[in-house]
Amino acid sequence: MEERIVFGKSMFQEKMDENRFGFDAQFRANAESDPLAVHKFMRREAWELKGLHDLCQWLVDRGCNMGLCIEVGSFMGESALVFAQYFDAVICVDPFEFVGPGFDENIDNLNQAGLSRDIVRQGFRDNTSAVNNIALIEKPDSAVNLRADIVYIDSEHTFVACLTAINRWKDKVTWVTGHDYVCADVKLAVDSVGKAVVFEDHSWVLER
Ligand SMILES: C[S@@+](CC[C@H](N)C(=O)[O-])C[C@H]1O[C@@H](n2cnc3c(N)ncnc32)[C@H](O)[C@@H]1O
Repeated sequence: MEERIVFGKSMFQEKMDENRFGFDAQFRANAESDPLAVHKFMRREAWELKGLHDLCQWLVDRGCNMGLCIEVGSFMGESALVFAQYFDAVICVDPFEFVGPGFDENIDNLNQAGLSRDIVRQGFRDNTSAVNNIALIEKPDSAVNLRADIVYIDSEHTFVACLTAINRWKDKVTWVTGHDYVCADVKLAVDSVGKAVVFEDHSWVLER
């Protein structure tokens, strides 16, 4: 039987009280109002979520077929939960490898805070298990033959990794989108491929 990671509110509350995440992490609900919520760890604030909703609405307005979204880099599933509201299906590709160079400061903070790969993976499962149109692929190579309406790239934020991801997906999807245009390397990579429309949470979409 699969080992279940204990992923309780108190552990995170403790780290948040110590301000070890270095950003405004919070639980958005409590166990009384939502039995699943005890496992929900949300780091995005409302304005960031709004940017994702705006991106999805922008796609709807341009006639995007809202069938399949592939998200490359899902972490605890927060952005996937937004995409799942707009697309028939969301396939999340994430090996839950966030150690090493190239990730944003938040990820480094999470490493410092002692969040392991297993805890993040369990967080993803806890956040998304009640949502029946989200699937997870943990081996990125297994996703290589997929085609989709959009890809949302939010994995490694180095220039080379971002450009590699864009090139890997651009002929397999109708719209190439992603996160963190605010990162200099991401911006360079995106701008080297085309013209981007950018949303207030720094999500981007390449114009066609
Ligand atoms: C910035 S987080 C994703 C955040 C998520 N999109 C959200 O908004 O909540 C980056 C994620 O990329 C994942 N990652 C690292 N290398 C990857 C790869 N080659 N393919 C897919 N995901 C990868 C990491 O495990 C990590 O969970």
